[in-house]
Amino acid sequence: MSLFIVKKSGPLSGEVTLSGAKNAVLPILCACLLTDEQCVIKGVPPLSDVFILLDIIKKTGAKAEYNQITQEVTIKAEYTAGDMSEENEAVKMRASFLVMGPLLSRNGFVKLPLPGGCPIGSRPVDLHLKGFEKLGAKIKQEFGAAEAKASKLKGGHIYLDFPSVGATENIIMAAALSEGVTVIENAALEPEIMDLINFMNKMGAGVFCLGNGTIKVTGVKKLHGAEHTVIPDRIEAGTFMAAAAITNGDITIKNAVYGHIKPAAAKLEECGMCVENSPDGLRVYSVGKRKAFNIKTMPFPGFPTDMQAIFMSIMTIAKGTSMVTETVFENRFLQASEMKRMGADIKTDGRVAVVEGVKKLTGSKVKAPDLRAGAALIITALAAEGSTEIGDIYHIERGYSNIEQKLKALGADIQKVEEENKKEE
Ligand code: UD1
Repeated sequence: MSLFIVKKSGPLSGEVTLSGAKNAVLPILCACLLTDEQCVIKGVPPLSDVFILLDIIKKTGAKAEYNQITQEVTIKAEYTAGDMSEENEAVKMRASFLVMGPLLSRNGFVKLPLPGGCPIGSRPVDLHLKGFEKLGAKIKQEFGAAEAKASKLKGGHIYLDFPSVGATENIIMAAALSEGVTVIENAALEPEIMDLINFMNKMGAGVFCLGNGTIKVTGVKKLHGAEHTVIPDRIEAGTFMAAAAITNGDITIKNAVYGHIKPAAAKLEECGMCVENSPDGLRVYSVGKRKAFNIKTMPFPGFPTDMQAIFMSIMTIAKGTSMVTETVFENRFLQASEMKRMGADIKTDGRVAVVEGVKKLTGSKVKAPDLRAGAALIITALAAEGSTEIGDIYHIERGYSNIEQKLKALGADIQKVEEENKKEE
């Protein structure tokens, strides 16, 4: 088992380049199943979530190759199976449910294991299934699997109870090859969804954003192969921004898209950082000491739930009382108890956390409870006296490639070690 050993560091300085966005790559790889022609996806980071999804894609019968050096994936899905219910691997990762829309659309039939809940919440898929139903599919849920069947999907009018990212993506993909026009109201509009739409339109799909959270999909008979480079990862950008903030640093994120990270930039400015957008990248630098600030997570363009734990790290040392309201997931403060082991003063009650900034954090033994909470522990550890040992880092590696090398290049004191070699470090 690997661990991160992080020592108090900073101020971080220098330049960093973001990897392709995990949350854009995963649906885009699934969309490749919508055509029997070859698709080439560039900027695919070597993440465990990507490897798991590629395995599932291969199990549908598609050919998929990943060149880790060029970070390119080639997929050719001449044939795709519809019944994936025996693929228990698929349940390991929630995003694998995104093959449902493309497989239903291609085959008129799909059966997949239902994804389980996860520590941050129950995470149902009812909105995905209701959407398929509106397109004319018959839905069955039994023996731990979800089944959808339709001889021909037909365009429909869908109002999502909540702007779910996954449901929006799955419905767009299912509707792409349907007969007629589909309108999705209260759709999610995250940059990763826009990237999926851009890729699908390169394949010949007719997907348009009409504004006011409405997406229109005009079904087409066939989609063709396409090439696409995925957008830079805005959550990785937020992670480096927080690392700069907690260490009083001055860093430039070369390929950050300002429009994607505005809510994070606004919060950094509130807490005494400067964020400058220039053709050379996004410069994030400290002007004075960190001040308390509040966060309320919301669907895009609100503050992203995936950056909530990461920005809580800054609150742990910011002067004054900060408050976090998590509106997207029901149990997303898993980082709090680990941060408390490092001396943070955090009280949680349901979906609200109150963080009182402390003068000193101290290194401790902690465990990454999930992907973003794990990243938040790395950031917090950069400001903690002594050494912090972070276990269960496989959670972090689901969503970050080479995070320790990128942070090290900015001057952070972080090592990845194997548990048995720990004493030698
Ligand atoms: C995606 C992201 C994840 C991010 C989340 C919210 C990927 C691979 N993952 O997850 O990193 O944290 O968006 O920005 O892109 N819900 C329902 N019924 C449904 C679907 C969702 O009630 O059928 C609820 C969920 O339980 C949750 C909320 O809606 O409370 C948001 O979930 P959703 O936007 O669907 O997140 P994911 O697509 O799973």
